[in-house]
Amino acid sequence: MLTRDWTKEDIAEISALEKVCFSDPWSEQTFLAAFSSPYFAGVLIEDNGKIAAYACASVLFEDAEIGAVAVAPEYRSKGLGKTVLCELEKRVKEKGAERIFLEVRVSNESALGLYRGAGFEAFGVRKKYYADGEDAFVMRKELGASAR
Ligand SMILES: CC(C)(COP(=O)(O)OP(=O)(O)OC[C@H]1O[C@@H](n2cnc3c(N)ncnc32)[C@H](O)[C@@H]1OP(=O)(O)O)[C@@H](O)C(=O)NCCC(=O)NCCS
Repeated sequence: MLTRDWTKEDIAEISALEKVCFSDPWSEQTFLAAFSSPYFAGVLIEDNGKIAAYACASVLFEDAEIGAVAVAPEYRSKGLGKTVLCELEKRVKEKGAERIFLEVRVSNESALGLYRGAGFEAFGVRKKYYADGEDAFVMRKELGASAR
């Protein structure tokens, strides 16, 4: 397994995996636009040249906002979610972030377990945040010295 930053060439494969992992996937164009921004941070884990997990965020001054965290179904429950999230935290800190935010479906137990275990706390609910009407928890983590 190899952990590394995204390249532009990864985005087609990430977009295909995104469709497998989410009911409301980001399009390839959305990923390309995000990737092209100077505020972008993206990390992935590859296994023999195949992308097994990916995560990205945008960093605006001291605040980072997670765009995606996903693990290919056949690689789940092996700690890759934890690893890719931890690597993303390191990248956003390098870009100056002091805290990190995300939205997550209120029903997404596995993601909530991952984020709570990583030290995120829910501090609000965005009603009907998703296109299908589901609410989102808004979660936050202060990035202390230990994440460096
Ligand atoms: C959420 C997701 C990234 C977790 O990835 P993963 O590699 O399976 O997670 P890990 O093996 O690193 O597990 C980390 C923690 O997540 C939680 N978790 C993982 N799978 C879980 C499950 N099926 N049920 C409950 N909690 C679970 C646990 O708290 C776990 O910690 P533990 O191993 O100490 O118990 C993965 O399920 C996924 O890609 N889901 C689809 C995309 C998605 O929903 N992304 C989040 C959007 S906000």
